Amino acid sequence: MRIDIITVLPELIKSPFEHSILKRASEKGLVEVNLIDLRSYGIGKHKQVDDYAFGGGAGMVMMIEPIANCINELKNKRTYDEIIYMTPDGETLNQKICNQLSLKKNLMVLCGHYKGVDQRLRDHFITKEISIGDYVLSGGEIAAAAMCDAIIRLIPGVLNDETSALTDSFQDNLLAPPVYTRPAEYNGWGIPEILLSGHGENIEKWRYEQSVERTKKRRPDLLK
Ligand code: ADE
Repeated sequence: MRIDIITVLPELIKSPFEHSILKRASEKGLVEVNLIDLRSYGIGKHKQVDDYAFGGGAGMVMMIEPIANCINELKNKRTYDEIIYMTPDGETLNQKICNQLSLKKNLMVLCGHYKGVDQRLRDHFITKEISIGDYVLSGGEIAAAAMCDAIIRLIPGVLNDETSALTDSFQDNLLAPPVYTRPAEYNGWGIPEILLSGHGENIEKWRYEQSVERTKKRRPDLLK
């Protein structure tokens, strides 16, 4: 998979892709993440990328020209499965969307700033608008990093058996069960006896029941 991320702050979004699972995914050649500095498409001497909103009001709007030029240049080189705009008024990201996106070949991600981008970009270039939750971040970069992390770890071959995504929360609409590691007793606090039984089938059954209990209690909406 190739992910091209358009941003005015490439430095801000770089680090998450340079560690742990995401780093290994790119080392294995399973993903290539490219950060494109929108500033280099800026207009005039000052490389302007934003301007005042028509009609007035506080806050700047990201201009159509630099972004359209950048998107068109990228589109000339390859075909994109989705051109995603990160925005708090988009569709809320969930595991199902991540699963779908993890099967794509080429993704483009546009990070918004200020009051957002000129609506004409959304109307004519963007194919998907994603929010990572009902709160407003200072820009789309952290949202893009969160989304890309959730997608990349699902690309076949990225996770091994030990880190398998199949046992993640949400993967089957259930939250993950509680987990424990050594020591089996700390400060007088033990662990569920069954986990020491060595009986695989019973342990799996217990984990499933715990998942269902936890989901009922914390996220009953997932069971509907
Ligand atoms: N940009 C600012 N806030 C955001 C959010 N919650 N999701 C996606 N992009 C954003």
